[in-house]
Formats: sequence, C-alpha cells, structure tokens
Amino acid sequence: MIDVAIVGASGYTGLELIKILLQHPGFNITCVATSEGAPSLAGMHPALTGIIDMPVAKADADEIAQKAQLAFLALPHKASMGFAGQLLEKGIRVVDLSADYRLALETYEAHYCPHEDKAHIAEAVYGLPELYRDEIAGSRLVANPGCYPTATLLGLLPFTRYIDERFPIFIDAKSGVSGAGKKCTHNTHFVTINENIFPYNPLMHRHQPEIGEKLHLQSGKSFDINFVPHLLPLTRGEMIDTYCLLKEEIDPIAILEAYYKDAPFVRIFDRPVDIKSPSGTNFCDIYAKCVDRKLYINSAIDNILRGASSQAVVNANLMCGFEEGLGIPTIAYVP
Ligand SMILES: NC(=O)c1ccc[n+]([C@@H]2O[C@H](COP(=O)([O-])OP(=O)(O)OC[C@H]3O[C@@H](n4cnc5c(N)ncnc54)[C@H](OP(=O)(O)O)[C@@H]3O)[C@@H](O)[C@H]2O)c1
Repeated sequence: MIDVAIVGASGYTGLELIKILLQHPGFNITCVATSEGAPSLAGMHPALTGIIDMPVAKADADEIAQKAQLAFLALPHKASMGFAGQLLEKGIRVVDLSADYRLALETYEAHYCPHEDKAHIAEAVYGLPELYRDEIAGSRLVANPGCYPTATLLGLLPFTRYIDERFPIFIDAKSGVSGAGKKCTHNTHFVTINENIFPYNPLMHRHQPEIGEKLHLQSGKSFDINFVPHLLPLTRGEMIDTYCLLKEEIDPIAILEAYYKDAPFVRIFDRPVDIKSPSGTNFCDIYAKCVDRKLYINSAIDNILRGASSQAVVNANLMCGFEEGLGIPTIAYVP
C-alpha cells in the first residue's frame, strides 16, 4: 500500500479524490489537509459520515512528508506551486490538479502569474495518459490537465495530421457548475445559472493556450484555436463541440478507433454523445463526423472525474507501477 495525502480536501476535486481513494486497493489515505484544517473530515463532508473520519490538518509540507509517499494537490493555481516544490525536495511524489505545472514557463506566466517554482516546472509531465503514458510512469511530478483541455485534446489529437492549419479551429465548450470550484460567484449563484446558459471568457479563457500548446507539441503545427466555454445549469459534466477544416476526406470513426485501440478510458460512439453517460466515470466519450472536408468532433466527460480527480488517480497508478485502471470508476451515474 502507498500512503497518500490529499491537500485541498474540502474542495470538489478533493472530495472526489477521497471517494476514489477510499475504494482503491493500492492507496491508503493517511493525511487530508486544507488551508486552515478542521477537527473532522466527516464534519466537513457529511456524505462521508459512517465511512471515514479523521482530523483535517492545516496544510504543511513537513507533516505531509512524514505521513505520505505521494500527495494529490487539489488546490487553486499559485497555491500549488508553493507546496509542490517543497514536497518534491522532501522526496514526495506529486500529482497537481491545478494549472501550475501544465504549461511551458513562458506560456504560464503570460496567462497566469509569475511562477515561484521554476526549479521544477520543466520536469513536470502533462498527465494525459493517452499521450504521455510512459513519461508519467517515470515521473515524480505530474501536472493533471485542465478539464476542458482533457475532453478537447482527446477529440482533436487523432486528427491533427489531417487538419488544414490555414483555417481556424472552433471549440464550443459547455460545463456544469462544479467546474468553477466550491466558492460561489455571481455566475455560479443558483439564481443566475438556474434555467440559464451563457458563455464566459470567450476567446480569452486560460484553457485556450493549454490546448494550443499541447496540440503543437504533439503535431508540430501551430493551430489557430478559438475556444468559447459556456456554463450549464448542471452540477457536473462537460460537452465539447469542435469544428475544423481538413485537407482531405476521412473516415473519422475508423481513425478514432485505431488511435484509441489501446486506451481503456476512451469510448468511441457512432452517434453524438451525451453528458450523462460518462458522468461518475473516467471515460471520455467521443463521436466525430466528416462532411465535405468539414470535421465535427463531439466529446463528453465528467469534469471533476476524467477532467480532474479520476484522471489524477490514473496518473498516480502509472507513477506507482499499478495497472492504469486500478480502482478507477467506470459505472455512470445514470439515470
Ligand atoms: N472543479 C473542476 O471540475 C476542476 C477540473 C479540473 C481541474 N480543476 C483544478 O483543481 C483545483 C481544485 O479545484 P476544485 O474545484 O476542487 O476547487 P475548490 O472546490 O475551490 O477547492 C479548493 C481547495 O483548496 C484549498 N485551498 C485553497 N487555498 C489553499 C492553500 N493556500 N493551502 C491549502 N489549501 C488551500 C481549499 O481549502 P479551504 O476550504 O481551506 O479554503 C479547498 O479545499 C483547481 O486548481 C482547479 O482549477 C478543477
């Protein structure tokens, strides 16, 4: 058994990590932490009553290093970079769910803030297992991808060699409200979002450079990415519709099936996908259609699982030499 810590245990992705790790045969939760700590984990998350309880520590790298061999950082960006560096120096492996280690330094600083852990950013491996499975297995610092980039990249990656990069790629994305974290804002207030849908940060969202950078690294091409996210009145789930122009006619389903033949957590559909079917699971569901060299790609994930916590545990499985799918949820929350 590998002892693990969850830092950011009071948040949405922190709770999902606890739920997955509780049922995992290879990981043992020995430390949960938040910014201030609390007397009881079950007091913090009533859903855990009768299942697990332990004190919640005030996040401290020394204490985590004494109790755990691997730490999941379910923290806002900027908070993670302070912590991850300290933990790595103490020999603790890290899976970071924030944006702090996902991007090249220049891209990060152009879109987020000055980076305070320049010593480690270059060694971080981008935690999309379908793209970097072998590198993740040898890493001690994995940067879990953003939720929108996960579903968008899994849809686009099989097609980059066919896309005509002289034309823009348009990405129409929609997410449930849990994607914004537990803190309530005007956009996520019940009265604003209930029975409503609206775009936010059109063409300016921080996931746009993440998608562009990873597509460039995989293909060597510089695509013109146009990304518009929308908020949906759902608790969880994400749907991506991507539109681009190809250099030639293709059979997109055959290409998807070949590209993902060894990927246990990508499901290819011959009809448009829906948000509910992958909800509660680590699956990314994908459908694609090509008409007159116009390609439409349609993908869906659970934003707090495949887009965050279950993907983080897949990465930890690979880092620790476990089978990729060990302890990973696959049964959807349906109906
Ligand atoms: N939600 C998603 O669907 C999703 C998907 C992909 C990636 N992510 C990323 O994953 C990270 C966590 O997201 P989330 O949705 O779980 O956020 P969240 O619900 O807002 O939770 C954030 C957690 O971080 C803790 N925290 C904040 N500052 C801290 C500090 N300085 N030291 C220690 N703990 C601190 C908070 O604890 P307190 O209660 O003490 O403040 C809370 O437990 C973010 O970087 C987010 O961008 C989220």
